[in-house]
Amino acid sequence: MSEYELCKLAADHARDQGLPVPDLVMVLGSGLRDLAAEMEKVGELSFKELPHWPVPRVEGHAAQLSWGRIDGAMVACLQGRVHLYEGYSAVEVVRPLRSLRLLGAEHFLITNAAGGLSAGMRAGELMLIEDQINLTACSPLVGPPEAAFGPRFPDQSRLFDLGLRESMLDLDPDLLSGVYAGVLGPGYETPAEIRMLQGMGAAAVGMSTVLEVVALAAMGGKVLGLSLISNLAAGLGAEPLAHSEVLAAGQSGSGRMKELIRGLCRRLRTDG
Ligand code: HPA
Repeated sequence: MSEYELCKLAADHARDQGLPVPDLVMVLGSGLRDLAAEMEKVGELSFKELPHWPVPRVEGHAAQLSWGRIDGAMVACLQGRVHLYEGYSAVEVVRPLRSLRLLGAEHFLITNAAGGLSAGMRAGELMLIEDQINLTACSPLVGPPEAAFGPRFPDQSRLFDLGLRESMLDLDPDLLSGVYAGVLGPGYETPAEIRMLQGMGAAAVGMSTVLEVVALAAMGGKVLGLSLISNLAAGLGAEPLAHSEVLAAGQSGSGRMKELIRGLCRRLRTDG
């Protein structure tokens, strides 16, 4: 089966199980999974039930696709995602999002937890992603060309949708904006790597997002990216970095994230 057929199979299965074409798809990153509770849930499927969807190998609880309304918008929510560092390929990492794009979803909010690189950043702050640097040395676009996944050589000068970014800034004029650098992980960065990333103009660093954004933008999806700065990047804080710190910051930053998501849903709702 081609990659297109695999994604189409999952999209058809989700539709058969009752998933409508959502106004918004959200991917909830580390420490942000609880945001799914904002939704008046009407259905859910575990990743295991979706044919050929990759199942996370790191998280404590099962990854789920759930859907329901937030402020009138129909939202499909991916709680959990897979990463390259788990041993999945770039094509597998983006399969859930390609499936939902094939289903007809147009708007995507990709969230993550990230290390802050800019002077003055604090744990718990949010950052609107204005552009990205893919440092994984992988791309989901490598492989046989598939017309449904976009052109062979897609333009990437506007990966993040300007209109959606402007709506976020209307909701919160103080929201930080910056460049997200996506790395392979799973080790956190060395101090020399942090200096390199700062020199490149990155304001935040993390181990997800960049491949998903490349795949969705190539398919004509409208993408918004929000990072929760869960920690200062290794070496910039006083203590060595621990995963528990990343999860704890999710709790503190998620209040503002909720407000932004609600505002976005009010803008994107098509009925209700
Ligand atoms: N580096 C890379 N990935 C991360 C970090 C970090 O400091 N924090 C959360 N995800």
